[in-house]
Amino acid sequence: MDNQMPDKDSLYVKSHVARDLLQNASLFKTDKLVIWEYVSNGLQYIDEGTSPVVKVILNSKKKQIVIMDNGRGMDWKGLQNFFIMHGENLDRKQGKPGRGRFGTGKSAAFGIADILRITTIRNGKRSKIVLHRNDIETINSEDPIPLTIIEAETTTNKANGTMIEIENIYLKSLDQAGVIHYIERHLAQWRHATVYVNNHECEFAEPPVVETKIIHPEDSVKEKIGDVELIIKITGAPIADDELRGVSIYSKGVWHETTLAGHQGREMAQYIFGAIDVPKLEEDKSPISPFDLSRSMQLNPNNETVRFVYAFIGNEIDKVRRQLVKQEKQRRASEESEKLARQAETIARVINEDFDDFRQRVIRARAKGRGGFDYGPEIKGGEDLDDLIFGSEEPAEIIELNGELGSNGGTRTGGTIPRELEPQVTEADTDAEKKGRKAGGIDKPVAARGGFSVDFKSMGAGESRANYDREVRTIYINLDHPQLEAAKGFNSTDDPYFQKITYEIAFSEYAIALAAELNSRDEYIDPSDPIIAIRETINRIARKAASMFSV
Ligand SMILES: Nc1ncnc2c1ncn2[C@@H]1O[C@H](COP(=O)(O)OP(=O)(O)OP(=O)(O)O)[C@@H](O)[C@H]1O
Ligand SMILES: [Mg+2]
Repeated sequence: MDNQMPDKDSLYVKSHVARDLLQNASLFKTDKLVIWEYVSNGLQYIDEGTSPVVKVILNSKKKQIVIMDNGRGMDWKGLQNFFIMHGENLDRKQGKPGRGRFGTGKSAAFGIADILRITTIRNGKRSKIVLHRNDIETINSEDPIPLTIIEAETTTNKANGTMIEIENIYLKSLDQAGVIHYIERHLAQWRHATVYVNNHECEFAEPPVVETKIIHPEDSVKEKIGDVELIIKITGAPIADDELRGVSIYSKGVWHETTLAGHQGREMAQYIFGAIDVPKLEEDKSPISPFDLSRSMQLNPNNETVRFVYAFIGNEIDKVRRQLVKQEKQRRASEESEKLARQAETIARVINEDFDDFRQRVIRARAKGRGGFDYGPEIKGGEDLDDLIFGSEEPAEIIELNGELGSNGGTRTGGTIPRELEPQVTEADTDAEKKGRKAGGIDKPVAARGGFSVDFKSMGAGESRANYDREVRTIYINLDHPQLEAAKGFNSTDDPYFQKITYEIAFSEYAIALAAELNSRDEYIDPSDPIIAIRETINRIARKAASMFSV
């Protein structure tokens, strides 16, 4: 039996560098993701006092990308560190945490290309290194990957900076617009950075804001996520780019995610964006890290701090959202009621035009009635009818002592005593003597003398389509009536079908109302009179309003 114990020192975790590099690189599947890795390095690793400027050149024809920065560059030691996969971020170690975290960004080029060339200058020394995919793929052990050194610390009088060249790109084409958009989106938090893509200077434009809210968490939440400040901004128009919707979560200035925290797609959520910086995320040392190296721009929802941040944001977004929904409903309702009021006015105008005609006929009939025989309509033309034509409650000014048509000494049909005709009146100042009355009721736009008003009202589905209130001489159309509900469908009251139905309803009700008014004044002799009168009125007004029904 072989009793020999295995060599305890021979068992440890190692890594296959080549496979590690290629697997990490495969997380960067698009040109924009790859470019952003090198651009963000160029923006972050700068000498103190430098304003970072990064230039990106996309050459679709040559299948080449070049990224040049004016950063601090790398000396030989810096390059050695650069080529360590998952190398510790030195800046972070020195207490300057920034965007760099995982030490894998350098591998990005191999997600889309075969060649990565680095030229870097630091303190008057230039080095140039090339790494080929072939060199990586041929390694089938845990051995380190050899690099092709073209220049090693050659003296130069050029300023610090780094140039990354990515060649033999196997994407079909380079998506310049997509790259620009992605960089601009990320530049939101790099306030003093300048990035050019070919000739385009990338600029981040925040959507125009109509209101800003600043919210601090309450004690129990504060304990979990710190005394942070949540800024919620509300736009006047829906935010077109849905990636901009939601709260951007930062930690110590580094952007990690933008989220609507469960409210995406909900009403008015597209008007909300904002920001929160939670340093606790950066400081989190729990076994379930808030971050991973996928560059997914999503925090880990299994991390406790992340969960509390999401809950806090989600709660506050929902409060704002509900408020906006309420405001929007009110706005729509008042817009809707304004529209309905205009529609009611249109209908009332037609009705009152007809009523005017009708009045003239009554007046003519009375005038004719002076003779022995009356061939006019069977209307008695009693004084009771005058209040339908004149009135006595509204301030009015006498503009002519005699009435209009038919005012020259008309008598009541069949009567002998000359009738006193009312003078013509017009609307006067409110403090004028009350000599007239607006027949259309309170605050309603009505014809100058006498007439009807039309109004829309929600009266309940069980109520009739319309009714007429003699007190205020108003025809009410019931918005809740099933016929109108159905006519409205999913559309608003703008729907032409809905409008036409309301005309028809108002006209029928007017015909009945007019008959009712006349009936109450004992103007009808035969029981069939009102039936004939209603039919006549409907026919007359439908004729007048025919054009309103055209399609
Ligand atoms: N353009 C540059 N100028 C100067 N130093 C750089 C530049 N790019 C990278 N470095 C140095 O090389 C290191 C490795 O870069 P790399 O992008 O691989 O990792 P990282 O930035 O630390 O982390 P991450 O993978 O999260 O980006 C950086 O930490 C930095 O010290
Ligand atoms: Mg990096």
